Amino acid sequence: MGKLLEVTGLQAGYGMFTVLHGLSFHVNEGEIVALVGSNGAGKTTTMRSLCGLLTPKGGQVRLGGELSTDFKSHQLVSRGLVCVPEGRQLFAELSVRDNLLVGASVPHARALRSQTLERVYSLFPKLSERQTQLCGTLSGGEQQMVAIGRGLMAMPKMLLLDEPSLGLAPSIVKQLFLTVSAIRSLGVTVLIVEQNVRTVLQMADRAYVMENGRIELEGNARDLVTDPRVIEAYFGSGSKESL
Ligand SMILES: Nc1ncnc2c1ncn2[C@@H]1O[C@H](COP(=O)(O)OP(=O)(O)OP(=O)(O)O)[C@@H](O)[C@H]1O
Ligand SMILES: [Mg+2]
Repeated sequence: MGKLLEVTGLQAGYGMFTVLHGLSFHVNEGEIVALVGSNGAGKTTTMRSLCGLLTPKGGQVRLGGELSTDFKSHQLVSRGLVCVPEGRQLFAELSVRDNLLVGASVPHARALRSQTLERVYSLFPKLSERQTQLCGTLSGGEQQMVAIGRGLMAMPKMLLLDEPSLGLAPSIVKQLFLTVSAIRSLGVTVLIVEQNVRTVLQMADRAYVMENGRIELEGNARDLVTDPRVIEAYFGSGSKESL
């Protein structure tokens, strides 16, 4: 299993403000890797740096061995790296089907878009039933399905998911994570940012815990669920998931 994504000493921020202080991690081909950490830790900044929306101040990002920090976001999509952003960012006035088709804009994906659309509908049967509904009228869970489906329409090798569970009820989150496992079974490598730490660690192969722009802990997801430092920070009394 080779490294599909390799991040070394990544530094990034906004203006004079540095958020990422030399981040290093990797994702092997075929893995689901989780990036967890509290609000403001720099998870979205990391995702934006990986997908070419933010120019790093230092360090290296390699995609399939190729230095990716010189590429613009659409060039990264052509190379198989697709980001599903925090907050979904769908076109509210467009139908489910049209929102999905927007994802198939790179040439190799456009050529196969009918087959990929069928694949997305078989992963998310509910979207097939609601093809003509405007996205602005969908429930939060359905909108998240469209956002992920749109990402899949680009035929990614690697999908970056930034807090897909935001605002969803626990039962919907479990379903969503089952779908993420199914997406991996289709051969797509996944890097997922999550605040539902316990649930994501049950699904992921490995995880990195990030605080203040640095990786504080890393390991097999199953080991991290029982790590006292993770329990203290994320499942202890007063933490979000203990409530
Ligand atoms: N466009 C911006 N301009 C200036 N500062 C920003 C900008 N976006 C984010 N930041 C700051 O960068 C830091 C990291 O933010 P980031 O969005 O990466 O955190 P996060 O880990 O994704 O948090 P959350 O869990 O709340 O989504 C925060 O202090 C935030 O205020
Ligand atoms: Mg974020």
